Amino acid sequence: MKFFIDTANLAEIKEAQDLGVLDGVTTNPSLMAKEGISGKDNVFKHYKAICDIVTGDVSAEVIATDFANMIKEGEELVTIDEKIVVKIPMIKDGIKAIKYFSDKGIRTNCTLVFSAGQALLAAKAGATYVSPFIGRLDDISYDGMDLIAQIVNIYGNYGYETQVLAASVRGPMHIIKCAEYGADVMTGPLSAMLALLKHPLTDSGLEKFLADHKKANS
Ligand code: E4P
Repeated sequence: MKFFIDTANLAEIKEAQDLGVLDGVTTNPSLMAKEGISGKDNVFKHYKAICDIVTGDVSAEVIATDFANMIKEGEELVTIDEKIVVKIPMIKDGIKAIKYFSDKGIRTNCTLVFSAGQALLAAKAGATYVSPFIGRLDDISYDGMDLIAQIVNIYGNYGYETQVLAASVRGPMHIIKCAEYGADVMTGPLSAMLALLKHPLTDSGLEKFLADHKKANS
């Protein structure tokens, strides 16, 4: 399973990249705003800075919600770097834009997906990635993981090439479940990835190994 980091924070992206297990980055307009990035020039420069840190795909989201302007924005975004994947919302014009980009060989990430039907449409339009938001479903008492299982099953039935990118991951259990359910990618915060490291028996075991080594060598 690929690990993407869901942030526009350059320090966190660098820390995840330095860990050696990072496969890409997802951003969204809220994450860009959180970093205080505004204005087209600054936004484009920031995407370039992210691309310069990582080796994998970087999702950059369009702001437009109509077909013509989504195409215009997407075509500009892909000029930033070859790692850019155009992130497009799951709306009617978004599906048209995904189909347009897919026909042109431009990679897309269909975002804000909350149902299997939406995921089916994204795959039929030729999206490179589909982003079901599992944490936000959990927040409203639906099981986000059920949706991942459903989409993985549907895509498997027909051999769709669209990759299931489990988004809105909130913690380590989401990551483990995504891997169990066969998601192609998960995107989440650095804290969720680092939480995978933790086990009390690792800590106590290491402490004992080091203490025994010290005793034997003193
Ligand atoms: C996905 O690409 C989104 O950026 C993201 O995962 C949303 O996560 P959130 O629900 O934690 O905001």
